Amino acid sequence: MEEIYLDHNATTPLNNSISRIINKYDKLLYGNPSSPYKIGRISRIEVEKSREKVARIINCSKDEVYFTSGGTESNNLAIQGSLNYLRRFGKINAKKRIITTEIEHLSVLNVFKELSKEGVKNYDVVFLPVDNSGFVDMEKFKSSIDSNTILISIMLANNEVGSIQSIKEMVKIAKSKNKNIIFHCDAVQGLGKIRVDVKDLEIDMLSISSHKFYGPKGVGALYVRKGVNIYPLFFGGHQEKSIRPGTENVVSIIAFGYACDMARENLEKNYKILTNLKKFFKDMLFEKLDKIVNVRVNSPEENCLPNTLNICFKGIDSELLISLLSQQGIYVSSGSACTSDSLEPSHVLLAMGIPENLAHNAIRFSFGIENKKKDLILTVKKIKKIILENKLNFSKA
Ligand SMILES: Cc1ncc(COP(=O)(O)O)c(C=O)c1O
Repeated sequence: MEEIYLDHNATTPLNNSISRIINKYDKLLYGNPSSPYKIGRISRIEVEKSREKVARIINCSKDEVYFTSGGTESNNLAIQGSLNYLRRFGKINAKKRIITTEIEHLSVLNVFKELSKEGVKNYDVVFLPVDNSGFVDMEKFKSSIDSNTILISIMLANNEVGSIQSIKEMVKIAKSKNKNIIFHCDAVQGLGKIRVDVKDLEIDMLSISSHKFYGPKGVGALYVRKGVNIYPLFFGGHQEKSIRPGTENVVSIIAFGYACDMARENLEKNYKILTNLKKFFKDMLFEKLDKIVNVRVNSPEENCLPNTLNICFKGIDSELLISLLSQQGIYVSSGSACTSDSLEPSHVLLAMGIPENLAHNAIRFSFGIENKKKDLILTVKKIKKIILENKLNFSKA
């Protein structure tokens, strides 16, 4: 059976040439980059070359790139690491405000939830609401920043619906109120799909993850602007300037670097491919399915990731549809992979004001550059067949 993968926001398949790079280096580069002899030095050179590649795609200096195990760790290191530094070095002497949004990935949201438990003493935590297209209200954002605010963390692009926030404008507003506020951005879903330039955004810290743009899983990076201090989350050797100790995952780091180069070189081309695929799919959904089921688009029309389309098939339980599609070799999800085993409706859709019963009908299609129009035609055909054969559309039938 032909398999069609339409869940690229969960993870992307490893690019073939990157897979070859991994195979090539896996046996060759076993030296520890901290070792002083030749095979160690070669590993060090390759790790540093990769750091340059990562720096190039986000437009920073290589000294500002810290390798991590991926987006989750980068987000934790940025938020907890910067707050721990401030606390440790006496800059937190009263209750301080920290701000995020209601639609963050759990690797940010749950850190803030944890900090709100500590908050009785230390933090006044603000979770900003979003509008029904998944955008932070600028007025609410502005008014949330007070003289006690020390940290803001807002994602660049949402993993479930694709809304792209105006981070540059937000950073400007925050810094004009208080230049010492630290602004972190989770750019895990943005990188590889849209331009991410830390200088242009004037951001202090930014998280990225290799497996969202055809690199290997379990490797990512945190950009930390020169002058911003973070305290490590765990302690050990001197790797990554002691901010993130532990022997480097050399081969994955190398492959991550290649994935960054490929994403940078093909950004415009890939953007067009993905935009076309999404439009093609969306038009076809309405054309072929509108008569049998009410289709509601949850993703914004503008300022949206080119590959992300979140849809409600009204009255159809998404878990059931996902499972029936999976039996046909078509892979989609109802939202974040991290919450897919939970029966709770998506916190993102609820924050957008989508009623709970409708949120249970949501499917996220996230396309990739290897998808073909014929895959999408087949997907719509199969959805139609599944709905009709199983009489899932009883509300419209
Ligand atoms: C927006 C966002 N942030 C962070 C992460 C976590 O990244 P990782 O899987 O590399 O830990 C994800 C993964 O889905 C994500 O979509």
